[in-house]
This record gives sequence, C-alpha cells and structure tokens, in this order.
Amino acid sequence: MNKLIVGNWKMYPTLSDSLVLAASLKRSLEDINGVEVVLAPPTAWLVPIAESWRHKPQHISLAAQNVWPNDQGAYTGEVSAYMLRNIVQYAIVGHSERREYAGEDNDLIHQKMQACLQWGIKPILCVGENKRMIDSEGVFDAYQLGKVVEQLLEGMNAVKKDNFDKVTVAYEPIFAIGTGEAATPEYTLRVITKLKEKLTDKFGEGPAGMVRFIYGGSVTTTNAAEYLRYPDIAGLLAGGISVKAQDFIKVCQIASKIS
Ligand code: PGA
Repeated sequence: MNKLIVGNWKMYPTLSDSLVLAASLKRSLEDINGVEVVLAPPTAWLVPIAESWRHKPQHISLAAQNVWPNDQGAYTGEVSAYMLRNIVQYAIVGHSERREYAGEDNDLIHQKMQACLQWGIKPILCVGENKRMIDSEGVFDAYQLGKVVEQLLEGMNAVKKDNFDKVTVAYEPIFAIGTGEAATPEYTLRVITKLKEKLTDKFGEGPAGMVRFIYGGSVTTTNAAEYLRYPDIAGLLAGGISVKAQDFIKVCQIASKIS
C-alpha cells in the first residue's frame, strides 16, 4: 500500500512563498512512485495554487487545514466543506491547534468529518494526548488514553461504515508537535495498535481495518524512515519541514522507497 505523506503548511507561507513551494514540489514529485502526497496550504492560497498547476498528477492532492460543517450561511470567517469540494481532495479535521486556539470540541469535529465525507473530501482526523500516555514501565495512563480514544470514537461517530476507507487518522501527540521531541516509533506503534483495537471493538474488524493511521509530530528527514518501515504506520503528517521543499521532498522519497 502506498504511504501517505501530508504537509501541513499551517499559517507559515505567504502567497508568493506558497506558489514557489507548490511549483517546486510538483516538479520534483511529479514522477515519484509508491507514495501519495497531500499538501495543505493556508485556505486563501488553495485556489491560486490549484490554478497555477493546470495539470494535477493523480498522486498529489491538496488539503484544507480546516472546514466548516454547514454548507452556506451566517458563519463569518469560515469556509465550508461544500465550498471546498472541488478544490481539495482532503481536509485536516480537529488539529490540536484548532482544538486549543479555536476551542473545537469532539462534537464540532464529528460534524466536520460528516460534511467532508458528504462532499467527497477525505478527512484526516487528528487525535493526540497532552502528556505522554505510556510510562517508562510501558504502562498506559488510563486518563490520557481515554481522552484520545474519545477523540477518535467521537470523531468517527456517525461516519458510515462504507466511508471508513476514506478516513485517515493522524495520531499527533501534542508534546511532539513543533517541539523537536517526536514520539518514538515504538511508542507510536503501541498507541496506534491500541487505537485500532478500540476502533475494532466499536465498529468491527472489517470497517476498522479500512481506516489508515499516520503519525505526526516533529517528523524530520532523519526519523521519517523509522516510522514508515512499520506497515501499521501508513504515513506521516509533517508540519515544520513541510514548508522546506528539500526536506519534504526527501521524506516523500524515503516513503517511496519503503512502500
Ligand atoms: P510539526 O507539526 O511537524 O512541526 O511537529 C506537525 C503538525 O502539527 O501537524
């Protein structure tokens, strides 16, 4: 199965930076095999980027960093999944920065999941704990684990089982985001295995097995391969390095060799 590499550009690049970055990534990754690349620029730059590309290779997609669940209406400052439906193929939903700075809760997030799926956008549901949930003895902290399981199950709430194959879960422990303190691949694998179990308990093996799990949090060109070599880690969500063309290209090349 092709690995998925998502670049979350956050609110970093200006329009001109974004056009240069998008052009460079497209040029370098156009012919890469065995990897699916998803770029998530700031919302306002999605259309200029899409228009600048003219032809979009099948394996390179655009993602929104956020969507609003209602289609149209009095929601000042928001852009809906409905409005983005022909512009993006993916959307990041429930990123920890939105949970923290925009006060998003699991209820709103599951509405966003549903809106994405209704309009043919593949959601990337972000979940992750505040504090490390596995101690040095290898024991799970029930509270931290419970919080992440809640984010996962409530986010998936009301997602139809035949849509599970369109959902990606990005496991992003908050302590690892932007800190240079990535969770180790072994830690990540243990958490992802646990989350898969919880998903299976609730929805059954068939549907749960369709959901892809990826890792995010201080991904670098040095550590990327360590996660990607595990079949249960289907890809990576990169923030900081995703706006550095050479680093992001390198991670995609690593993924291409592994898948
Ligand atoms: P980071 O961000 O790679 O800079 O840690 C990841 C993310 O927030 O998605």
